[in-house]
Amino acid sequence: MTTPAIRVRHLWHRFGQFDVLRDVSFEVAPGEIYGFIGPNGAGKTTTIRIMATLLEPLAGRVEIDGIDVALEPDAVRRIIGYMPDHAGVYERVTVREYLEFFADAYRVHSLGVVDAVLELTDIVPLRDRLVAELSKGQKQRLGLARILLHDPKVLILDEPASDLDPRARIEIRDLLLDLRTLGKTILLSSHILTELSDVCTSVGILEQGHMVVSGPIGEIGERLATQRAAQASGLVPVPGAVPVAAPAPERRGLKLRVLGDPAAAAVALQGGPGIVDVAVAGAAVQVGYLGGDEKVAQIVRRLCECDVGVVGVEREQNELERIFLEATRRPS
Ligand SMILES: Nc1ncnc2c1ncn2[C@@H]1O[C@H](COP(=O)(O)OP(=O)(O)OP(=O)(O)O)[C@@H](O)[C@H]1O
Ligand SMILES: [Mg+2]
Repeated sequence: MTTPAIRVRHLWHRFGQFDVLRDVSFEVAPGEIYGFIGPNGAGKTTTIRIMATLLEPLAGRVEIDGIDVALEPDAVRRIIGYMPDHAGVYERVTVREYLEFFADAYRVHSLGVVDAVLELTDIVPLRDRLVAELSKGQKQRLGLARILLHDPKVLILDEPASDLDPRARIEIRDLLLDLRTLGKTILLSSHILTELSDVCTSVGILEQGHMVVSGPIGEIGERLATQRAAQASGLVPVPGAVPVAAPAPERRGLKLRVLGDPAAAAVALQGGPGIVDVAVAGAAVQVGYLGGDEKVAQIVRRLCECDVGVVGVEREQNELERIFLEATRRPS
């Protein structure tokens, strides 16, 4: 079995009398982009600071690429790139001087490394600008450039996209995808669910120091449905167990933008197989349906047969939002 890039086991932390982390366990496989999601105060930064060897856990164990952060912090620091949530930057130096300074601090002697990270993070045109003159998005790129100098295997980014405008966010997202293709494992935290959700291959949802659910995005939805079915039947779910009875199918929502009158589209779909509800909302039609992508394709086909021009198909919630709402569903 491959060693997980990040392995957190029964992690506890306390500030004063307050248990901030309560038995948090999760794993991130090599090559994943893991979204560490939770509301303000959930304990994300605390967990990340423990991973980055800056805080000692009260109990539990954290390993980065199989190395224990508490036992071998120096070895861990060599293989992680950690970007804190509010990184200060030295402002009265140029971008190149800033990176050269950190390359020295990391004892990176290769002369080409600064040029390589400038290129990778797309800040070559800024190299002679003062750090003080950079925009927030540009500073964020510089922060990423800095933590890439020593070519770390695992990147740990605390809220890398907070405060960025949509364009800067898209640019960071593309950069993260590039880093993944270079073989890096990336953990990024966010309290805004949709912020970078489309790049994440797996997620963990933390609430009040508890890990509610964690795993590959494709698997989590099914696992939650199994858990709920087991709770409803009074059975205690066994981790990894195959469900005895398949859970009831869930309503999913689509928003369709069509040419012409959306009411005509609503009429074409109403009462069709697997269609739960249909409503006109402004220039769009909202459709509740049961099933997966096949059903979406059927809905679009049906509209085409009825001569309705489909110009846009969006899910009402993206997959991650759906998982989040499921995972944090309040008891009714
Ligand atoms: N140094 C500290 N001393 C005391 N309490 C702290 C300290 N750092 C964090 N806390 C508390 O621990 C809890 C978790 O904080 P943490 O910063 O880990 O949350 P977070 O999930 O990163 O939140 P945010 O989304 O706001 O960044 C909060 O209740 C916070 O007040
Ligand atoms: Mg935080």
